[in-house]
Amino acid sequence: MYKVTLIRGDGIGPEIVAAALEVVEATGVKIAWEETLAGEEAVEKFGTPLPEEAVASLRKNKVGLKGPLTTQVGSGYRSLNVAMRQKLDLYANLRLAKSYPRVNSPYEDIDLVVVRENTEGLYSGVEHMVGLDAAESIKIVTRRASERIVRFAFEYTRRNSRRKVTAVHKANILKFSDGLFLEAARAVAEQYPDIEYEEKIVDNMAMQLVQKPHLYDVMVMPNLYGDILSDLCAGLVGGLGMTPSGNIGDEVSLFEPVHGSAPKYKGLDRANPVAMILTAALMLRHLGEEKAAQRIERAVTEVLREGKAVTPDLNGTAGTAAMGLAIAEKVTAL
Ligand code: NAI
Repeated sequence: MYKVTLIRGDGIGPEIVAAALEVVEATGVKIAWEETLAGEEAVEKFGTPLPEEAVASLRKNKVGLKGPLTTQVGSGYRSLNVAMRQKLDLYANLRLAKSYPRVNSPYEDIDLVVVRENTEGLYSGVEHMVGLDAAESIKIVTRRASERIVRFAFEYTRRNSRRKVTAVHKANILKFSDGLFLEAARAVAEQYPDIEYEEKIVDNMAMQLVQKPHLYDVMVMPNLYGDILSDLCAGLVGGLGMTPSGNIGDEVSLFEPVHGSAPKYKGLDRANPVAMILTAALMLRHLGEEKAAQRIERAVTEVLREGKAVTPDLNGTAGTAAMGLAIAEKVTAL
């Protein structure tokens, strides 16, 4: 029996998490969920979006599954997601973009991995006004964080029998910050002579991903580029409803979909639960439950191939709950 922290999240979070829990249950893997509040509900109950209890639960259980949390734009609380990643040192953000059948997208057979540095860069939170009409945001890059994220990418590549790591940067302009990232990447790459290594400037990378995505495999990059390019990769495989992710540290790991809380769909039973369900599969793989993870991925593939129980963003008419149930039933049958 595993003990896992559960945060249902805001907006569409509770609906897609309910679907994912049903699918996990169908695998037969026994999990005792320790539910804890964060986000809007936590503000109402405890006056803070990230109660100490949530952080303590994750520290204790070491693994968590979470729905998306709403962050106010421009004002209000600092992003909770960023706060959690920094507090728990969840330094690697692993974002997967894989093609599934009958999902409307420009390509087939995409299988891309974005490894995003999750703790520093432009997300360090060092920002201030300079007088009334200027503002500064400081991008912080350290050798330690750069080396460990690149090492994570190479280890992931090796463990998953993948072939190539591409380091993405803008060191031609940001000679110090991205220059240091690149220097660290080269030093780590030398320790993995069996894995192909290359470098791409971020703007060129964006174009290459649109034109020739099959040339790429695992990509590792500073925080902001990872945020942007992983959404681009999501676009290549049918949108944000399809992409799972994990925030992984040496101690604690927290799994969540790439997408946000999609407030406009809250309570409407129309959000796509696939990203959340694939996120649960990623979590099971992390726990060592490879077979259960594969069953979920096969069940998702089957339900999408049949094209009957799929949500409106996939050109279907099924609700979130119905699609979740269809995937859970397939898992049981496999
Ligand atoms: P979003 O990902 O919530 O939505 C972007 C677009 O994709 C919207 O059109 C939305 O309706 C659609 N979408 C997203 N997930 C979907 C799904 N499962 N099924 C169908 N359509 C889906 O991003 P947005 O609008 O920028 O942010 C909304 C809120 O979510 C903000 O408060 C933001 O801070 C938060 N957010 C939280 C994240 C997290 O908890 N890790 C990540 C990204 C955003």
